[in-house]
Amino acid sequence: MARFASLLCTFLTLFSAVTAVPAGPVRRWLNFGYGLGEKVRGVNIGGWLVLEPYINLSLFRQFPPENIPVDEYHFCQYLGQEECLAQLQAHWASWVTADDFAQMAAAGLNHVRIPVGYWAFVLLEGDPYVQGQLPYLDQALQWARQYGLKVWIDLHGLPGSQNGFDNSGLRDSYAWQTDANMEASLGALEALIARYAAPEWNDVVVALQPVNEPLGPVLDRTKIEAYYDYSYYDLRNTENSDIGLAIHDAFYPTTSWNSFLQPPNYYHVILDHHAYQVFSTGEVARDQAAHLGQTCVEGQNVLGTTLWTVVGEWSAALTDCAEWLNGVGRGARYDGSYTDNGGSYFIGSCATRWDFSTWSDQDKANSRQYVEAQMDAYEQGQGWIFWCWKTENAIEWDFSFLLQNGIIPQPLDSRIFPKACNF
Ligand SMILES: *[C@@H]1O[C@H](CO)[C@@H](O)[C@H](O)[C@H]1NC(C)=O
Repeated sequence: MARFASLLCTFLTLFSAVTAVPAGPVRRWLNFGYGLGEKVRGVNIGGWLVLEPYINLSLFRQFPPENIPVDEYHFCQYLGQEECLAQLQAHWASWVTADDFAQMAAAGLNHVRIPVGYWAFVLLEGDPYVQGQLPYLDQALQWARQYGLKVWIDLHGLPGSQNGFDNSGLRDSYAWQTDANMEASLGALEALIARYAAPEWNDVVVALQPVNEPLGPVLDRTKIEAYYDYSYYDLRNTENSDIGLAIHDAFYPTTSWNSFLQPPNYYHVILDHHAYQVFSTGEVARDQAAHLGQTCVEGQNVLGTTLWTVVGEWSAALTDCAEWLNGVGRGARYDGSYTDNGGSYFIGSCATRWDFSTWSDQDKANSRQYVEAQMDAYEQGQGWIFWCWKTENAIEWDFSFLLQNGIIPQPLDSRIFPKACNF
């Protein structure tokens, strides 16, 4: 019997069960001041426990150009388990180190969001994925603790894929909501919660996220909500666990979650909204004023929510020029080389975007202004988590690079271009 199918049938019963959970001795304690004026300022460790070709290009350049795997699933399928494990062990051991956490803390950051795939916890029959990520994740949590950073752990890829993005592990698949895949998802979720909502991590792991970016428009929202509800129930039934539950808005308007998992019946629920302006032709065609205008709209959107709202992914990208950002073999909408889904047309050249030394002073000013405006906008809510901490060569997505090159303000709240919006 598929548990998820029966869960859906008993959805309403479950709701009343959940509201009953806090009746026991509840600490309602969280090791970060969400809602108390303390702002989330964080980075995502992308491209680490879930591979993304555009973040670590070299890993994917070992293959013949006509046959490059498009995601981690195909990466391991191509290499075979033994070689895949050897390569990924080396990657897991080197991509982030204690020094990265020291640098994050020194930059004034207080949060790290760490994506991990379901396959770190459970494997489906026939999966080419390999396991062994969790000791590295544990090590990262210890470093975070050492440097005073709080962590969200995020299930970034679920069985069958919840969005078809390469960053879910399996590109172009949308099969997450079959009964079998939801059932397997619950297994991964339960393992995540059992391991990381445990009291030994409560000082550092402040939130768990049961699914990243479920692609609302192609999924059944009722099942997404049932899955979130189940996550809440499972988390709160874990010994002493009052840690946060971060739920992505599934690309629905942030305010459409204003009647879901609300306090006071539910507590420590965080709405995660992602803000990018480069994944459609209309967006990459915006000029600076239009990018800033949209940023201000995002600030209004987070102001309009009733759950604590964090912009859990955003970047400095004003173009989609980073190589393979749209996926292996796919070009950029900005320079007209994108050929999928309706194609693209020339807006500007990517040639001067790839290498920072070719950025004009105006490019740098625009980038800095966009970053500052976003920080101000997202701090109208609970704050922000930049995507990502480091990359190989995707400079508009690379916090540590942008920090070293004066695009990220230091201290984080200093401003060259104050008040882009009226916040
Ligand atoms: C990306 O992966 C390759 C191959 O594992 C590695 O040698 C390289 O250092 C990585 N890139 C960065 C910037 O760490």
